[in-house]
Amino acid sequence: MRKLLYPFEIHPEAKTMLDLGCGKGIVSLYAAARGLTVDAVDKTPEPPPLFRDVPNIRFVAADLEQWTPTRTYDIILCHYVLHFLDRTYVVRDFLPTLIHHLNPRGVLQLFVFTPQDFTSVPTKFSPEELLPIFRNLDISKNEMFIEKEDHPPIGKHEHHTLWLAARR
Ligand SMILES: C[S@@+](CC[C@H](N)C(=O)[O-])C[C@H]1O[C@@H](n2cnc3c(N)ncnc32)[C@H](O)[C@@H]1O
Repeated sequence: MRKLLYPFEIHPEAKTMLDLGCGKGIVSLYAAARGLTVDAVDKTPEPPPLFRDVPNIRFVAADLEQWTPTRTYDIILCHYVLHFLDRTYVVRDFLPTLIHHLNPRGVLQLFVFTPQDFTSVPTKFSPEELLPIFRNLDISKNEMFIEKEDHPPIGKHEHHTLWLAARR
């Protein structure tokens, strides 16, 4: 959990956040509880039930391959979602556009599966292909880590993840 919350540690004065592929919305809820105004995007048509009655989270149902931000943010999260998108789109369009939507001192954080990961997702990313996109930002995290998991139906397995955080 600490990794997920890293942007709040290094940008405690953040006021706005964009959570892309928000899933159940746990990090969005954490941000909202800290008083941030949150836009949370996911392709699922309905907002996560936990967003009900949380006035400072706006849920947007959208496919990220068809959607671009209309606002700027202090924190942008791409947690475990980029590997569902097209590689060329992510590298050439999506991430460069997100960087333009970071406020000064804003932080973009991503977690993606690397080519060493066994999970069957459409796209995996290496640091070599993502780091050049952030060349004009301060890279505050560039780590690869392995998480061991054991749950049905897969059983014991490992996830190979790249953690990148960059600041304007
Ligand atoms: C593995 S979950 C990650 C959820 C959350 N970010 C987290 O870290 O727990 C991936 C999420 O991305 C969403 N997703 C996948 N492809 C998407 C797309 N093309 N556009 C928008 N959301 C997408 C899924 O619906 C799912 O909620």
